[in-house]
Amino acid sequence: MQPKLIIHGGAGSSLKGKGGIESVRRSLSQVIEEVYALLKSGAKASDAVVLGCQLLEDDPRFNAGTGSVLQSDGQIRMSAALMDGTSQRFSGAINVSRVQHPIDLAHHLQSSPDRVLSDYGAAELLRELQIPLYNPLTELRLEEWMQERQENFVKTMAGVVAEPELVENAGRGTIGVVALDSQGNLAVGTSTGGKGFERIGRVSDSAMPAGNYATIHAAVSCTGIGEDIIDECLAARIVVRVTDGLSLPEAMKRTFAEAHKNQRDLGAIALDATGAIAWGKTSEVLLAAFHDGEKIGDTLESDEGTLTGCLEA
Ligand code: GLY
Repeated sequence: MQPKLIIHGGAGSSLKGKGGIESVRRSLSQVIEEVYALLKSGAKASDAVVLGCQLLEDDPRFNAGTGSVLQSDGQIRMSAALMDGTSQRFSGAINVSRVQHPIDLAHHLQSSPDRVLSDYGAAELLRELQIPLYNPLTELRLEEWMQERQENFVKTMAGVVAEPELVENAGRGTIGVVALDSQGNLAVGTSTGGKGFERIGRVSDSAMPAGNYATIHAAVSCTGIGEDIIDECLAARIVVRVTDGLSLPEAMKRTFAEAHKNQRDLGAIALDATGAIAWGKTSEVLLAAFHDGEKIGDTLESDEGTLTGCLEA
């Protein structure tokens, strides 16, 4: 079967001008090209998802891994999850620090009897696995935090991309990857630095089934305000609708109409087992790109009022 791939680098307010769009497009396209080549070579969906998440975590523009936002106390705490649709198995790490690729912990935990670890346990696992300590802090994120500190944290979240000139009042950064491999297996991974400036101990949706979920029928990764995603139980809601027989476009339409009515601020990317590619957003822009088997496309210029989009298989 023809592999399919969709990735995101967060959702938020409109990118400023053509320059902003082109620079995010370049970042996303590079990741799509590398990960799609792996899928074409016969790799498993879950391995492609891990590679995609690692590449997006390494891009300091996005709020995951390097470039993660700082929390209210000036520390970085990241969360990531992986779900394999074929085994219907979820694993994740919550509020982990000092690691380059939080998705690696989620990957390791796929075969562990304890599959979701939080801060102290995740740090212990990093030590056990002898994963080298890594500081994901960037100058821009530190400046953003210092500025907010001076203004006494009036903002409730940080910028979606670490380039203040590209977005206006943006928040809601996360990265995510959904893949369908040549054997027809689905997998999804999501990774985030959180909202930025949040209370210590706040838990992101990204390492919950609300933000990252898959069965053999569909797989979804979410971005946006974690509390909104949790309240809608967004990823699991879309996947369960498809699993119960709704088409992916219908499941997306119904779910995003509900989220819009509830005034949520969020986005999602999705694939189903037939190879349909879909996305949805209530925010102004969703930073997503995909490979449909023939070419790369993206959602960067989709209309502000558009809630969902779909490419049928
Ligand atoms: N969606 C990322 C977060 O709210 O933590």
